[in-house]
Amino acid sequence: MNAADPNEILDDEAALQLDANGNLRHLLTLKGLDKALLTDILDDAEGYLTAPGALPARSQSLAGRTVGNLFFEPSTRTRASFDLAGKRLGADVLNLDVNTSSRKKGESILDTIYTLQAMHVDVMVVRDASDGVPAYIARHVQPHVSILNAGESDVSHPTQGLLDVLTIRQHKGAFEDLNIAIVGDIRHSRVAMSATHALTTLGVGDLRLISPPILAPDADKVPGARIVDNLAEGIANADVVMALRIQRERIGNLDGIPGIDEYFANYGVSHDSMKLARPDAIIMHPGPMNRGIEIEGSLADGPQSVITQQVTNGVAVRMAVLDRVGKTMAAR
Ligand code: CP
Repeated sequence: MNAADPNEILDDEAALQLDANGNLRHLLTLKGLDKALLTDILDDAEGYLTAPGALPARSQSLAGRTVGNLFFEPSTRTRASFDLAGKRLGADVLNLDVNTSSRKKGESILDTIYTLQAMHVDVMVVRDASDGVPAYIARHVQPHVSILNAGESDVSHPTQGLLDVLTIRQHKGAFEDLNIAIVGDIRHSRVAMSATHALTTLGVGDLRLISPPILAPDADKVPGARIVDNLAEGIANADVVMALRIQRERIGNLDGIPGIDEYFANYGVSHDSMKLARPDAIIMHPGPMNRGIEIEGSLADGPQSVITQQVTNGVAVRMAVLDRVGKTMAAR
């Protein structure tokens, strides 16, 4: 394998996440997972959704198991939803406080993982700022342990990709005829990468990734998508518009990055720019939002917005994934 080729690294990760029977053991990336498996996970997630005001769905499918949340980067939505998802499936959930953990004393990530493994943590949910960490851990844990990627650098955020395509499917049905516009800092966005992996596998009609040239992705990382630097062109007749924030924490040198007013004028998802999309277009954002920079605040709160539904779907998707890897463990 040419270790410098990101697509080959992803292919290797894709193979690592299924067991010999094709069952999901780890979730490291959506790249390489087939349409049938993605669809099954979305169908399972829908089964965990309940009506607004009703009690959330619960089961005991993970009773006796332990889920550990290891977030080495900040998170509100992903961490809280994995916490709730594990509890609603009957698991014990450990939320490791990384700021007071022994990693602050120089312990390696593998030693942290081995320590938790020795305490019978069965599923480790990992967010990290470095490329390759979830797969690296997955290669080192014992056969009964599952690793779930909860956000890996600018590479991959697979459960976010699943909740995004679930939300699109709920509103728009089949993917084949859809024009989908993802607008923002595509280059540094693991959300855009995982959405692209899922949408291309599911057969999206026209996927446009829109950003200023300085924030555009490398074309070889997003096969099947169109890279567009003009918002009007990219958003035209879109059925779905997803806004993304500028990932300042991943950009070493901000020289050349447009200022707030210039960025909003040229790439902001606003009432004005949405006039070019289809009238029934939905508006998405993975959060956290920077209102007035990548999205107009009143639009995020308006009738076209499905942003809070994405959050609700996040719990259901994470329950579906946890349940699935739990079944893989039980079948061993
Ligand atoms: N979308 C997302 O990953 O949000 P958090 O960083 O709050 O988890």
